[in-house]
Amino acid sequence: MSATATDTISAKLLDWYDRHARELPWRAAPGVPSPDPYRVWLSEVMLQQTTVAAVAPYFAKFTETWPTVEALAAAPEEEVMAAWAGLGYYSRARNLVKCAREVAAMGGFPATEAELRKLPGLGDYTAAAVAAIAFGERAVVVDANVERVVARLFAIREPLPGSRKAIRAAADEITPEERAGDFAQAMMDLGATICTARDAKCLLCPLSADCRARAEGNPLELPVKPKKKPKPSRTGTAFWIEREEQVWLVTRPGKGMLGGMRALPDDGWSARGDGDDEAPVSGAWKGGGVVRHSFTHFDLELGVAIHAGDEPSPAGEGEWWPVEAIEDAGLPTLFAKAARLVLAGRG
Ligand code: ADE
Repeated sequence: MSATATDTISAKLLDWYDRHARELPWRAAPGVPSPDPYRVWLSEVMLQQTTVAAVAPYFAKFTETWPTVEALAAAPEEEVMAAWAGLGYYSRARNLVKCAREVAAMGGFPATEAELRKLPGLGDYTAAAVAAIAFGERAVVVDANVERVVARLFAIREPLPGSRKAIRAAADEITPEERAGDFAQAMMDLGATICTARDAKCLLCPLSADCRARAEGNPLELPVKPKKKPKPSRTGTAFWIEREEQVWLVTRPGKGMLGGMRALPDDGWSARGDGDDEAPVSGAWKGGGVVRHSFTHFDLELGVAIHAGDEPSPAGEGEWWPVEAIEDAGLPTLFAKAARLVLAGRG
């Protein structure tokens, strides 16, 4: 596109954003510069792979409990992990604490994309997003929504992920020198509300006159995605061991799936290969039902085995947790589902 065409695209989009920006708790109003970088960083980490609706209550809880990066840096890691429970992708929470501690030690967030990129947990997307939104740096911010909008706008027909370079170059072409943060968030809002994966509301789109995919026919065909492979399934068992109205909980090892999270003890399903299932438990155990949970790379059927003997004395490290306060244990969703199943079975 010509330089004037790309200038007009950003101007049209910013004008649309001035009128239609979503009001979100971590956002400044359009045209108002740099909100608190802590809030921007926290929200962008939470929003990776996670919807605005799912993030909102967590963002409220985190900013109330830890209003500054210094407060978060001073928090015990277990408390942060427990507060993150239910949001998924738990390595984000571990990196969040690490990053907060580095930033607090540095005396605040660095203000450039290049410096932000060096912090724990900040990949290309997050570093660019924080630089643009919190510091007004002209950075090229590309998430899945932006990828879709750009692929359609420029009719990029090469399938993902091979097209990422071309999409980034096209996004760079239309990113303005000024208001790069508003521009990035406008692209995200356009992708989330108008130019969505299943629906292209071209009649409402401020960029419809510039959109090559619209001119060529069917914007819904873009971006072309690789065929999804069917997800493998795994099975596993979690153990419910109870004594005097308390249940035995463990903390999962720091690295690996659900690492650092409080959990029910289990048979090691997360470390096994797909299709490599354990024999069902018997003897001192009775079946408490099955919960299903979908992870990024596999689906899990987790049987719940309830200890049926008397006076259990579990081996290894763990803690007795009051059953009536199980919802406060900070269990990730899989184990929270298992605990609810056991308690529902009691009527
Ligand atoms: N998704 C990720 N970051 C976002 C933001 N700042 N606004 C809206 N949606 C987003």
